[in-house]
Amino acid sequence: MTKQTTNIISDDAAIRITNLNKWYGDFHVLKDVNLTVKQGERIVIAGPSGSGKSTLIRCINRLEVHQKGEIFVDGIELTSDVKNISKIRSEVGMCFQSFNLFPHLTILENCTLAPMSVRGLSQTEAEEIAMHFLEKVRISDQAMKHPGQLSGGQQQRVAIARALCMKPRAMLFDEPTSALDPETIKEVLDTMITLAEDGMTMVCVTHEMGFARQVADRVIFMDKGTIVEENTPDEFFDNPQHERTQLFLSQIFGH
Ligand SMILES: Nc1ncnc2c1ncn2[C@@H]1O[C@H](COP(=O)(O)OP(=O)(O)OP(=O)(O)O)[C@@H](O)[C@H]1O
Ligand SMILES: [Mg+2]
Repeated sequence: MTKQTTNIISDDAAIRITNLNKWYGDFHVLKDVNLTVKQGERIVIAGPSGSGKSTLIRCINRLEVHQKGEIFVDGIELTSDVKNISKIRSEVGMCFQSFNLFPHLTILENCTLAPMSVRGLSQTEAEEIAMHFLEKVRISDQAMKHPGQLSGGQQQRVAIARALCMKPRAMLFDEPTSALDPETIKEVLDTMITLAEDGMTMVCVTHEMGFARQVADRVIFMDKGTIVEENTPDEFFDNPQHERTQLFLSQIFGH
């Protein structure tokens, strides 16, 4: 058996990724990715389909395993040490395109499950926290319903509230609005804007460039498994440096 050593460092960064490499079989999906996310920083990751955005974000809470390089979350290195994985997963909330709510549980129960089972809160404590965050995403009146009785946008807001109930130190989003109707996209983006205004550290994969411009401190552009360009939103959109970025933006904005 190989000995597992885990590095814990003193770090002011929320997430620190150095020389990250990942392969799916022979396919080199992430190539020497370096990214540091400061506490309270809002990062938007953009890029064409298949560039590795989801893979990168999934590596941050070990839904995908990387083969080379280092990922530190709040100073704790992500290795195969199960203790650290569960610690990091409870500190980093994740919100996907599909909401992944438990259909047989009420909205309230969906939100209290992990705080009770992972954080060890009493039902009363967990419900109090759940109602606080359901109010925050403006959906507390639906607490006793089941997910199937809610619209897509409402379910996504519940998914965000559910993640917040764990009091995460950072939130990862992977195209949270791309499965939604145009009318409901705004309500989810508004929820994310509120979260950003509250100072949450956020890493968001999104095609919502209006959101990126309004909220992001930095936009990261990925292509073919590498970070091609990163900049402030204004520079990124108004003065893209890399040819690949220019092409991507011209396709997105249709000119
Ligand atoms: N489990 C897997 N096994 C093998 N290849 C995979 C796997 N998951 C993703 N890939 C491949 O890795 C590459 C990056 O995929 P990824 O899902 O990270 O891209 P993405 O940038 O999120 O794309 P999209 O914008 O379409 O969501 C793609 O070529 C994809 O086909
Ligand atoms: Mg993706």
